[in-house]
Amino acid sequence: MKLVKTLLAASLGALIAASAASAVQAKQITIGFSQIGAESEWRTANTNDVKAAAKAHNINLKFSDAQQKQENQIKAIRTFIAQKVDLIGFVPIVATGWDNVLREAKRAKIPVLVMDRDLTVSDPSLYVAKIGTDSVTEGKKAFEWLDDYVTKNNIKPRNGGDKLNIVILEGTVGASATTGRAKGFNTALKNSPNKDRYKILASQTGDFTRQKGQEVMESFLKSYRNDIDILFAMNDDMALGAIQSIEAAGLKPSKDIIIVSVDGVKGIFQAMKDGKSNVTVECNPLQGDLFFTTAEKILKGESVPKSVFVEEGVYPAEKAAEVLPTRKY
Ligand code: AHR
Repeated sequence: MKLVKTLLAASLGALIAASAASAVQAKQITIGFSQIGAESEWRTANTNDVKAAAKAHNINLKFSDAQQKQENQIKAIRTFIAQKVDLIGFVPIVATGWDNVLREAKRAKIPVLVMDRDLTVSDPSLYVAKIGTDSVTEGKKAFEWLDDYVTKNNIKPRNGGDKLNIVILEGTVGASATTGRAKGFNTALKNSPNKDRYKILASQTGDFTRQKGQEVMESFLKSYRNDIDILFAMNDDMALGAIQSIEAAGLKPSKDIIIVSVDGVKGIFQAMKDGKSNVTVECNPLQGDLFFTTAEKILKGESVPKSVFVEEGVYPAEKAAEVLPTRKY
């Protein structure tokens, strides 16, 4: 009898849970999403993917473009709270400065799901989870590919000195994609048995844009035209801008200056195919499906891991012609 009662209680419980879940499913979910802007080919692909995935998941998406300003993201999040959306998603343009607005979301009982970049908050319960990319690993992969390439091809400094000179185009100041890639790259360099082979000559932000990448590379070349051996650009757009400056300075990109960048957009595959760049470390912008799948789980009360990473590869120039037609972004 006791067993029958237990079984009856269990099936009643399951029935209540199932009908609560289908009630959640029946109501269309509204998600407010604050995007950084449109600074790069990568970001445009990320935005397009978020919008397409929202449609595929039948989500009512309130999309807001912050035009590169954290204050606009904070305003958008406050608007989403006032609109009582079911969940808030955002890409933190910089890592810090989110505590107050996320506390407001928490008080309003609206879960927050972070996409792409990391953030630093005083209380980790201010957001449920982050899905996106692993920028430290991207920086590490970039240096490891470079070190291997230099060794295998016995690359020597152009100026006849004893160090291979590296210049770095950094991303947006304070963004986790910048600090993470710098950390991964510098740590791998420090730990390399070949570390004495390299010198970082200059490092400056190009803000993840093609135009600034071009401008900053132009100024690097004015100071060190005959000394630069390697460019590490923290995204493909800055590398593409830099290629224009390298050519304008009468040098051959990928030959006189080895170019390593991050993202994997079609533009850099074309440049590699044309013999103008050496490698791209993928940073996958196609995060929309994972984002909305995770959001649906959160809204059903299911637990999700605090960090979920998307898959990312490394594509050297010799693969470019074969891979370019298959690239989705
Ligand atoms: O956060 C990802 C980075 O942001 C990408 O590398 C870059 O292209 C974008 O602007």
